[in-house]
Amino acid sequence: MILDASLKESITAGARALQEGRLLGMPTETVYGLAADADNDAAVARIFAAKGRPANHPLIVHVADAASIQRYAKEVPVFAQQLIDAFWPGPLTVILPRLPEAAKASTGGQDSVGLRCPSHPVAHALLLACQRLDPPVWGVSAPSANKFGRVSPTTAEHVASEFGDDLLVLDGGACEVGIESTIVDCTRGAPVLLRPGAVTREDIERACGMRPLSKEEMPEHTPRASGTLLAHYAPSAKVRLMDARQIQTALEVLGKDAAHIAIYSRTRMLTPARAVTLRRMPDDPNAAGQELFAALRDFDEAKVKLIWVETPPESGEWEGVRDRLQRAAAA
Ligand code: TXA
Ligand code: MG
Repeated sequence: MILDASLKESITAGARALQEGRLLGMPTETVYGLAADADNDAAVARIFAAKGRPANHPLIVHVADAASIQRYAKEVPVFAQQLIDAFWPGPLTVILPRLPEAAKASTGGQDSVGLRCPSHPVAHALLLACQRLDPPVWGVSAPSANKFGRVSPTTAEHVASEFGDDLLVLDGGACEVGIESTIVDCTRGAPVLLRPGAVTREDIERACGMRPLSKEEMPEHTPRASGTLLAHYAPSAKVRLMDARQIQTALEVLGKDAAHIAIYSRTRMLTPARAVTLRRMPDDPNAAGQELFAALRDFDEAKVKLIWVETPPESGEWEGVRDRLQRAAAA
């Protein structure tokens, strides 16, 4: 059931649901999350079951404020604190060494924990309400509210269409960022970028004075995690990344026989086929990120078989969008 999150009762009902060990669809500024009390192992197990996600893929714990870190993390390196100061509340997740008793199931038993303080007003109100309950809920585990391997939801309706009417969903409108948070592993002495997002490499370097390493540059690989799997975030249609010239040439070769194809490009395309689905990708990387997953869902709804996407620019501010599209194309 979708609840209007601008009503105070909705926030209270959401917090109660979490306290009772139930699941909740929660808006954040990045994507909608499928939330549960981070310290209730049975509730967390329900998330894994509902998503169809392997239980060794750790979940992010969402907190109301930076002060709550001490309930989950053993220590906070100086550079991690600088990142938290610069980007919380906001679309940044930090991986920190975990306190032994905290969020066990949520972290898949790993000795680290991913923490994020979302800036969405509904998420914030919900997390505050959770803290004030008796007994309180200090942290909320929430992966993106989609079935394993599918495109993340950016509206309450997306969540309802994925999990049905039984799930309570707080409707906080369309997500502003649109792609999942940037994840920085802070357990290795220097920042390691596990998943690019709206907080860019350049932003990270500016905030802490260290250029983040890529996980490929690390001597041993970081734990398996779905947010970092190739072939994730895939719509049903087959996605291909191409440059503008390739797309234009292919359209000309196809002639009128292109009804099953969607084109998603920054460059305007000329097509002889009226039936082809053309959609312009915004020129601004943040605007492109905001609509990306909704656009992929729209293409699926239009029942196209192929989505030809113009490869985004190489620059750092496009890294998050590029990453999601490359994964979609690898499926
Ligand atoms: O924007 C977001 O981060 C959204 C919203 C709902 O907050 N959440 C999200 O969660 O994307 P999820 O579960 O789809 O992605 C979480 C990813 C994992 O797949 C993994 O890559 C990483 O976070 N992660 C979490 N805890 C970790 C840990 N202890 N060590 C390494 N990676 C971790
Ligand atoms: Mg996800």
